[in-house]
Amino acid sequence: MITVKNLTKIYQVHTRQKNFFLDVFARQYKEIHALNNISFDIGEDELVGFIGPNGAGKTTTLKILSGILYPTSGMVSVMNTTPFEKNIRFLKQIAFVMGQRNQLIWDLSTRDSLQLQKTIYEINDEDFKKNVGELTELLDANDLLDKPVKTLSLGQRMKMELVVGLLHRPKIIFFDEPTIGLDIFSQEAIRNFIKSYQSETKATIILTSHYLEDVKRLAKRLIIIHNGSIVYDGSLSNIVEQYTVEKRVVVTLDKMVNDTELRGIGVPYTLSYPKVTFLIKKGFLPEKIKHITQSLPFSDLTVEDESIEEIIKTFFKEHHGSSHT
Ligand SMILES: Nc1ncnc2c1ncn2[C@@H]1O[C@H](COP(=O)(O)OP(=O)(O)OP(=O)(O)O)[C@@H](O)[C@H]1O
Ligand SMILES: [Mg+2]
Repeated sequence: MITVKNLTKIYQVHTRQKNFFLDVFARQYKEIHALNNISFDIGEDELVGFIGPNGAGKTTTLKILSGILYPTSGMVSVMNTTPFEKNIRFLKQIAFVMGQRNQLIWDLSTRDSLQLQKTIYEINDEDFKKNVGELTELLDANDLLDKPVKTLSLGQRMKMELVVGLLHRPKIIFFDEPTIGLDIFSQEAIRNFIKSYQSETKATIILTSHYLEDVKRLAKRLIIIHNGSIVYDGSLSNIVEQYTVEKRVVVTLDKMVNDTELRGIGVPYTLSYPKVTFLIKKGFLPEKIKHITQSLPFSDLTVEDESIEEIIKTFFKEHHGSSHT
């Protein structure tokens, strides 16, 4: 579905000089290497999480994949076409939805923007009605269609962006931070939407987000990019397994026990009776659990993974000596 081989993107940026004449007649340029030789393949109906620190090259990659930008060198093929040739058949089958940029018309209602999309994508009345109905139902947003976009909250606007952006039923979707700035409830609504949309339509999706919960909930495969290079491409569960340092063991106590007994199992721990939580190094887990079951009166015991943020931080620390996410 998507093939990228040795893709490089260098931006030429004009550097201003103090002398006006030099600035105009002998312009100087600086090169920014946004992508250095990246390669990956994405198959049909995959949903891939694409993460990395600010400036890593995520948006640049998505812009190249959707035909907005030309690559400097390398090969890009999406549905067997070259995106920047912008062939109509290709454009009708992709969508690029950005959380930070608005494609809705501010003073008008979403319904007006939808009419525009209908014309651009040559969608017939029947499909139009069906698609709008399905999308608004999935997003629980039927009542928002006729409100002027400028009166909508951020979360409501994002829902409308999705209705407009996906009206033409694209086969491939690039989501660039679709949950940015949203509260946890709206984030959850958007995540649930993406999940159901993907399982219904089997679309191929690349999703970037700084909220790693999005990626954890939605993607089985993760690509991590750093300074324009891919530093990880593999399953999410592998990286979780490999870079989990500690597990969180939560014990629900039957009765209060004293501090020494808890310290005997592990420090640090937090106690909020009846729950006590230990952070235990992965290698010591079997031994510590045995110790807990033998020495503490408890009614429940769960072992939880570290947060995905902690895991990605550990990954960056080990690879690059920093803790970027
Ligand atoms: N139009 C442009 N002109 C010049 N440099 C650019 C341009 N767009 C991006 N860059 C630079 O290219 C690099 C990659 O930027 P990009 O926007 O792809 O990163 P990103 O991973 O999407 O970051 P973020 O998480 O902040 O959105 C950065 O160094 C950025 O400053
Ligand atoms: Mg970006």
